[in-house]
Amino acid sequence: MSFSAQIAADATLISAHLARTLCEFPALPVVDAMRYAVAGGKRIRGFLVLESARLFDIAPQNALSAAAAIEMLHAYSLVHDDLPAMDNDDLRRGQPTLHIKWGEATAILAGDALHTLAFELLADPDLGPAELRLDLVASLAKAAGAKGMVMGQALDIAAETAEFPLSLAQITELQAGKTGALISWSACAGARLARADIKPLFDYSQALGLAFQIQDDILDVTGDVTLAGKRLGKDAQARKATFVSLLGLERARLMALDLVGQAQTALAPYGQKAQKLSDAAQFVIKRHT
Ligand code: IPE
Ligand code: IPE
Ligand code: MG
Ligand code: MG
Ligand code: MG
Repeated sequence: MSFSAQIAADATLISAHLARTLCEFPALPVVDAMRYAVAGGKRIRGFLVLESARLFDIAPQNALSAAAAIEMLHAYSLVHDDLPAMDNDDLRRGQPTLHIKWGEATAILAGDALHTLAFELLADPDLGPAELRLDLVASLAKAAGAKGMVMGQALDIAAETAEFPLSLAQITELQAGKTGALISWSACAGARLARADIKPLFDYSQALGLAFQIQDDILDVTGDVTLAGKRLGKDAQARKATFVSLLGLERARLMALDLVGQAQTALAPYGQKAQKLSDAAQFVIKRHT
């Protein structure tokens, strides 16, 4: 199966699991808002969980709760990222952002509920013995929190009003947190589920995460709103610190290309079995959405 067929098949599995999980909840606007928040998206993080699990012959049904968990956590991060106090966006995945449709209080609460539900999903016995689930929970808590995604988001917001432009090292730290940490957790999940060495997937994911965010920053300048499904041209307007703001488009493109090479090299220990993860790295810098 090709990479594009695989990510499409995985997206279908993950969406069904998200729908099953959310159908157990009471009929409340906040629950409708949670369903709205997890709808759509490329499901790249969920794909990385399922594909890294396949490297170790772990079947999708034994990794699906982890794939759904990371997509929930990611959806929460987007809902909060779009709030007026953060990026103040009105379009996400081609639809009005959650606070535009449901109001800010519901957007905050739906995000909070998705955040905790992600960890509930990681406690699912389908994923394996308790010790293994504890490792998944602890590592995701670290990736999502003030050493990971939240740290990156805080640095991103602080940079908007910083007196001096951030250095390359500072932007790298910011991006590795805000985007890299969740992508890294996703790609390492298969090795965690197999209790194998995470080092090769960790190296892959560090390069992949940075390349992913560079492409996000490039699309903000050169992309098409209909394909991206979100407002573009906003980073410069908000004085965001990005690789594009520091390096310009051409050097940012070269850096992303170099990172894709690094990501692919890191997969060498897995040989042919890692072909789709290797293709995913190419996809990350070729995508228009
Ligand atoms: C967007 O992530 C936010 C970033 C971390 C750059 P994605 O581009 O993966 O968003 P969806 O899930 O496909 O909508
Ligand atoms: C968002 O980064 C990262 C997280 C939600 C953690 P951006 O602010 O660049 O993402 P978009 O461009 O709004 O999707
Ligand atoms: Mg943001
Ligand atoms: Mg944003
Ligand atoms: Mg962006």
